[in-house]
Amino acid sequence: MVNLEVSLAGVSLKNPVIPASGTFGYGREFSEVYDLNILGSFSFKGTTAEPRFGNPQPRVAETPCGMLNAVGLQNPGIDSVVAQELPNIAKIFHGPVIANIGGSTAEEYVENCRALDSCEQMGIIEVNISCPNVHCGGRNFGSDPKSAAQVTAAVKAVTKKPVFVKLSPNVTDIAEIARACADAGADGLCLINTLLGMRIDLKTKRPLLANRTGGLSGPAVFPVALRMVWDVYEAVDLPIIGCGGVSSAEDVCEMMLAGAGAVEIGAANLKNPFACKSIIEHLPTVCERLGVTKISELTGGAHRE
Ligand SMILES: Cc1cc2nc3c(=O)[nH]c(=O)nc-3n(C[C@H](O)[C@H](O)[C@H](O)COP(=O)(O)O)c2cc1C
Repeated sequence: MVNLEVSLAGVSLKNPVIPASGTFGYGREFSEVYDLNILGSFSFKGTTAEPRFGNPQPRVAETPCGMLNAVGLQNPGIDSVVAQELPNIAKIFHGPVIANIGGSTAEEYVENCRALDSCEQMGIIEVNISCPNVHCGGRNFGSDPKSAAQVTAAVKAVTKKPVFVKLSPNVTDIAEIARACADAGADGLCLINTLLGMRIDLKTKRPLLANRTGGLSGPAVFPVALRMVWDVYEAVDLPIIGCGGVSSAEDVCEMMLAGAGAVEIGAANLKNPFACKSIIEHLPTVCERLGVTKISELTGGAHRE
C-alpha cells in the first residue's frame, strides 16, 4: 500500500493531485463526470471583486503539445462566488479547497481574501499575481519583486489561512520573486502560471487570438515548469505546488522530485476530463516502481546527493 497523503503548510490532502485554476471552474461540470472526493484538492477559477466577461473570441488556440489561452479571468465576481458557488462546492467536495484570487490592486486582493476567509472549507488562499497591476501601468504584480511582496503582505495581514502565491514564469529570475514573497510572509508558492505566447493565422495574416497574445500551457511547458520548481526549491524554504504541463502520474512524481509538495494539473483536464482521476489511480504503481511507500518522500528527492 502506498500512502499518497501530503501536507501543504499544515493542510492535509489525501493525495497531491489538484486540478489547476481556470481549468476546473468551480467544480460543477466535473462533478457530473466523476466524484471530486478522489482529489487532493482543487483550485477554483481565479476570482475578482467584480464579475468579468473576459476577452473577446477567439481566446483559445491549439499549439504543438499545448494550448494558448487568453480567457481574461472570466468569472462571476466574488459576491456571486460566495453566494452561489461555495455552497455548491460544499455539496460536491468535502476536502480543503484552494481559493484562487485575482486583482488589479493590492486592495482588491485584500477584499477578495476577506470575503473568502470566513469560509471554513477554503484550505489555502492562492494569490494569482499574474494579473496586471493598474497602479504600475498594467505590469504584472508577478514580474516585479516589490509588487509581489506588497500583495503577499497585504493578503497575509487579513487572513489566518495559508497564503500560497502563484508565480508567473514570464520573468528572468523566478527565484528572486519567490524570495520576495517568502520575505513578505508567504506560506507557500505555486508555480508556474502560463508562458506568454502568440500565433498568427495564415489565412488572415493576423494574430489568431483576439487578444493577440495568450498564455501557453500543456505538455510543451513541462520542462520549463520543472526547472522553475527546481530553482525555487533551492531558493526558499517553503512548500511548493508544482504546476505546468503535467499530464501523467510519472510527471507528478518528477515534479515532486524537483521540489513540489503537491501538483496542479491544468490543460490536461481540458483534453481529457478524466485526466486527474487516471493520474490518481496510476500514482501507487509509479510510486512502487520508484521504491517509495509514502509519496511525500519524493519531494525534493532530486536535490539530495
Ligand atoms: C483556460 C485556462 C484558464 C486559466 N485561468 C487561470 C486563472 O484563472 N487563475 C490562475 O491562477 N491560473 C489560470 N490558468 C493557469 C493554470 O492554472 C496553470 O497555471 C497553467 O495552465 C499551467 O498548467 P498546465 O500546463 O497544466 O495547464 C489558466 C489556464 C488555462 C489553460
